[in-house]
Amino acid sequence: MADFFDQMCRVIAETEARRPGSLSPGPEVEALFAAAPRPSPATSAAPAAPRSPEAAPVPAAGTLDALRDMLADCRRCPLARGRTHLVFGEGNPRARLMFIGEGPGFDEDRTGRPFVGRAGQLLDRMIAAMQFTREEVYIANVVKCRPPDNRAPAPEEAACCLPFLKRQIDLVRPEVIVLLGAVAVKYLLDTTTGIMKMRGKWTHYENIPVMPTFHPAFLLRQEAAKREAWQDLQQVMARFGKFHRR
Ligand code: URA
Repeated sequence: MADFFDQMCRVIAETEARRPGSLSPGPEVEALFAAAPRPSPATSAAPAAPRSPEAAPVPAAGTLDALRDMLADCRRCPLARGRTHLVFGEGNPRARLMFIGEGPGFDEDRTGRPFVGRAGQLLDRMIAAMQFTREEVYIANVVKCRPPDNRAPAPEEAACCLPFLKRQIDLVRPEVIVLLGAVAVKYLLDTTTGIMKMRGKWTHYENIPVMPTFHPAFLLRQEAAKREAWQDLQQVMARFGKFHRR
């Protein structure tokens, strides 16, 4: 079956051809999307905070490998207790484009790799539609251990991991960061403004242009939102001089 985002590009191009000047793909695009259920959010309470955010200074690791080593047997927060593998992140250490998600899910915890489950497969298609390869980009998460039941990380858990994510960003120094979903927006940008307002608008983290967009897992269950996500991604493509093929 043809790639989903490629199909979307084609439909958008055809729709634009019929309606010159419009970027709106119309109902044809939505018809391409199959909504999928996601594990329900956890109702269990977040574990107690083991330490304050101040207790986690920005690590001084000089390389991504050194940073990974610093996390090898991490016990800084209760998420460590439930993990099978810590999911450090992966990709080109000199990537021009970096994606930041929320935290590992079941498949990532099992394999130790970010975005390898269903959301990851959609992210792969999004990356390909942007005319990048997964090997070219860098993919990381706010937290590096799986929150139970795929719940959002608690603030204390995010606070423990955030210095490591920030160091990862410093070391990769991408030209553009794409934030995937509300959790990445909240913690990296330190904002309470929700993803619905933030998405599609350029902002900055440490002078690096940042494009917030929807999380692939959200896109799997909210098919209509894929059109907006694609518009967000096209803004990122344009920064790199890439435009979808017509
Ligand atoms: N969702 C995320 O936010 N990150 C992953 O690595 C996988 C799913």
